[in-house]
Amino acid sequence: MRLSPPSPPAASAWLVPVVLAVLAACHQAAAPTLSTASRWVVDASGSRVKLACVNWPSHLEPMLAEGLGQRPVGAIAADVAAMGFNCVRLTWPTFLVTNASYGNLTVAQSFQRLNLTESLAGVRANNPGVADLKLIDALKAVVNSLGEHGVMVILDNHLSKPGWCCSNTDGNGFFGDAFFDPDVWVDGLTRMATTFAAAPNVVGMSLRNELRGPRQNANDWYKYMQRGAEAVHAANPRVLVILSGLSFDNDLAFLSSRPVNLSFAGKAAFEVHWYSFSNSQEWSSGNANQACARVSAGVTRRALYLLDRGWPVILSEFGVDNRGANANDNRYYGCAAAVVADLDLDWALWALQGSYYLREGVRDHDEAYGVLDGSWSKPRNATALRRVQALQRPLRGPGLAEAPPYTALFHPVTGMCAVVRRRSPAAQTLELGPCDETEAWEYSAQDQSLALRDSSQLCLRAEGAGRPASLGASCGDAMARWRLVSDSKLHVAVNATAAASSSASAAGGGALCLDVGADGRSVVTNPCRCLSADNSCDPESQWFKLVNSTRSVAANPNLLAQLPLKLKNWKIRSF
Ligand SMILES: *[C@@H]1O[C@H](CO)[C@@H](O)[C@H](O)[C@H]1NC(C)=O
Ligand SMILES: *[C@@H]1O[C@H](CO)[C@@H](O)[C@H](O)[C@H]1NC(C)=O
Ligand SMILES: *[C@@H]1O[C@H](CO)[C@@H](O)[C@H](O)[C@H]1NC(C)=O
Ligand SMILES: *[C@@H]1O[C@H](CO)[C@@H](O)[C@H](O)[C@H]1NC(C)=O
Ligand SMILES: *[C@@H]1O[C@H](CO)[C@@H](O)[C@H](O)[C@H]1NC(C)=O
Ligand SMILES: *[C@@H]1O[C@H](CO)[C@@H](O)[C@H](O)[C@H]1NC(C)=O
Ligand SMILES: *[C@@H]1O[C@H](CO)[C@@H](O)[C@H](O)[C@H]1NC(C)=O
Repeated sequence: MRLSPPSPPAASAWLVPVVLAVLAACHQAAAPTLSTASRWVVDASGSRVKLACVNWPSHLEPMLAEGLGQRPVGAIAADVAAMGFNCVRLTWPTFLVTNASYGNLTVAQSFQRLNLTESLAGVRANNPGVADLKLIDALKAVVNSLGEHGVMVILDNHLSKPGWCCSNTDGNGFFGDAFFDPDVWVDGLTRMATTFAAAPNVVGMSLRNELRGPRQNANDWYKYMQRGAEAVHAANPRVLVILSGLSFDNDLAFLSSRPVNLSFAGKAAFEVHWYSFSNSQEWSSGNANQACARVSAGVTRRALYLLDRGWPVILSEFGVDNRGANANDNRYYGCAAAVVADLDLDWALWALQGSYYLREGVRDHDEAYGVLDGSWSKPRNATALRRVQALQRPLRGPGLAEAPPYTALFHPVTGMCAVVRRRSPAAQTLELGPCDETEAWEYSAQDQSLALRDSSQLCLRAEGAGRPASLGASCGDAMARWRLVSDSKLHVAVNATAAASSSASAAGGGALCLDVGADGRSVVTNPCRCLSADNSCDPESQWFKLVNSTRSVAANPNLLAQLPLKLKNWKIRSF
């Protein structure tokens, strides 16, 4: 497995029951206390903390965090950290803390009740200290283990009655549904906030996942969500309170006319979910550029507009089928990743788990969206993981003004950026590389110039179809005039017809777009693909998003190229 080893953990220390019993006494890596500063989540010193989380469910019928039948909790927590996630959105069901017929079970009793004999044997083998704990103490053990690996936790109230979530008619959708008594819910939130008030790595609590169903309405949303927020804040004023919207957390539009009214400030954020299936078959049946423009405008109108109103909006569920065969997911991913990078969003990927003990009646149910495979010991798809990891590093925000604002050319579908490689003083090539090795680009839509801000007068030039893009000093002609084209504005194009008619250039006609060469690495220009109308073709290799950054630029790429690999890796992994 390609995950690097974790920092200093004593992976078995957490098993000692005494340690579990006294959560507050546990020695955890210093975890930040989070608050908000306009749209940013910040620590006590006011510096940005970018939430780069992964979802880890503990809300299904067994009510134990998934995977503990496969590997020790400390090993899973170490992998979460090693993969670069700084936080887990850990889900729980209300009845775990409000209903004795669930809450008083031990892990073993819970599994036996469901006839999960083999899974229970797996838990006993991999996590012997957990099997006979009460369920809430098992959850504490998971939180504590994440803390030992420096991973923050957002406790997410996922539903009331343990089980797979979510449908419009499962009785868990909205206040007043069969299993969703508002008073029980507030009681559950209070108990949970109180129980984990002493756990320093619990930095946030999200009030309720994916409100939905025939009962949903904005008036009750304000009435109960404000009550829930106040209850959590009263029980643990240290945590960030996270509010989810209507219609499966796709909709926070109602807040534009009536803001939320809370007694406290600087401790509340919103969350939104965005999957390809939020828009049915729109991705595969339409033109990808038009779908991207239309769908992302919808997400902005319904939720991301709150960033401009001074609220953090956490994209707390997004993700794809990692097997690579879902056409909707594949087209959606590049578009969603471009938005995440552009806005430098806080997020939580769906999901960590390679499998479930029991989901929808099926034992050892596979999770195709999982980062880990069914063995829970290696990534399901290393390529898919790498491109998500590209979104972990913050690009800007309070405390991150390391350089004057510049642009990076982000390639969402690979998670890489266009970087300049100097093979020799004379030969400079443009390649896909780690985004923290980008130089400072400056794009002017008015002048249509895309130039290196700090390196004399070098600009990006097209050299013709199928040929590498170059850095040149001659920047006035059509082959150096770049426009962002198509509805998605994710194609970066020159007009080679204009170049051909005004010079002897062998450019050929038509629009040429930045693209990735056949070697999978070099940045070239090719005839622009499926800018509009065409539904059958996938333009994503030509999608580049010009994203803003204030992170320090690689001072001297020549020098960097000579660094030993170990040091380079360190540089890439460190935020
Ligand atoms: C507790 O759970 C049981 C079994 O699901 C259910 O019948 C009962 O109504 C629940 N009680 C409360 C107070 O939620
Ligand atoms: C478990 O039972 C005890 C009494 O035996 C009770 O005080 C407690 O509230 C119960 N736990 C839950 C989650 O209902
Ligand atoms: C568990 O197995 C027993 C005995 O085979 C059976 O009676 C019971 O219905 C099963 N329970 C579940 C939840 O599958
Ligand atoms: C906000 O809530 C407080 C306390 O419930 C109330 O006094 C106040 O009128 C509310 N403000 C608005 C604008 O609704
Ligand atoms: C891994 O994910 C990538 C990106 O979605 C996809 O192209 C590829 O087919 C996937 N590979 C496997 C083996 O599932
Ligand atoms: C490209 O340049 C040609 C020649 O100057 C011009 O006729 C054409 O309209 C231009 N195309 C675009 C899309 O601007
Ligand atoms: C990026 O920076 C440009 C130039 O300052 C600005 O116009 C644009 O709104 C910024 N984009 C975002 C997403 O903040």
